[in-house]
Amino acid sequence: MNMGSEHTSTNIVWHESRVSRQFRHEAFGQQGCTLWFTGLSGSGKSTLAFTLEHKLIEAEFKSYVLDGDNIRHGLNNNLGFSDEDREENIRRVGEVSKLFADAGLIVLSSFISPFKQDRQLVRKIHEDAELNFIEIYIDTPLAICEERDPKQLYAKARRGEIPNFTGISSPYEEPDNAEIIIPVTYTPEQSSQHIFDYLKQHQIIKP
Ligand code: ADX
Repeated sequence: MNMGSEHTSTNIVWHESRVSRQFRHEAFGQQGCTLWFTGLSGSGKSTLAFTLEHKLIEAEFKSYVLDGDNIRHGLNNNLGFSDEDREENIRRVGEVSKLFADAGLIVLSSFISPFKQDRQLVRKIHEDAELNFIEIYIDTPLAICEERDPKQLYAKARRGEIPNFTGISSPYEEPDNAEIIIPVTYTPEQSSQHIFDYLKQHQIIKP
């Protein structure tokens, strides 16, 4: 399996689409981009991503959520939670996000993505492809995530029943260059409105 950026396949040739980026943007009325939601389990990433997806679709923008729990049911069902598996999880979903963004979608990727280096790689994948990458840090403190514990996973992790649990027995490295930070005081509606306004201001979606 190719776990890094090196190519294992040889004799492969890149085919260029007949549709330019500009033509695609004009036809879709939006710029494809990736909104990358990072934060602890229970921080509210997925709730916010799905709220924003709904808001965007209602306004007739084309949008889709890639969610950690969901992707681990399919594409990444062969990966666990070791540092190496998380790295491969993020590398793959980073590449999928880039493809969807290139296709012209507003991609909402919701993954704990605890390691700076892995998030940086995804940023670079987008920058190299000249696609917008917007990192959104859901800044909900561990104590609050643990109090919410919607899936009862923190309780299990505290009992030693889940190894490498983020925030308990595996680290979370806070972003220091996130484009948007969502404080715990915001409701999902306020947060999604805030991001929606950001997308308008940056001409990613038409005003
Ligand atoms: S990531 O670290 O590789 O980015 P991802 O976002 O895909 O994680 O998956 C996180 C989800 O998996 C959590 O919301 C939780 O429901 C579940 N999960 C199961 N085991 C763990 C674990 N050891 N650490 C964190 N989340 C876990």
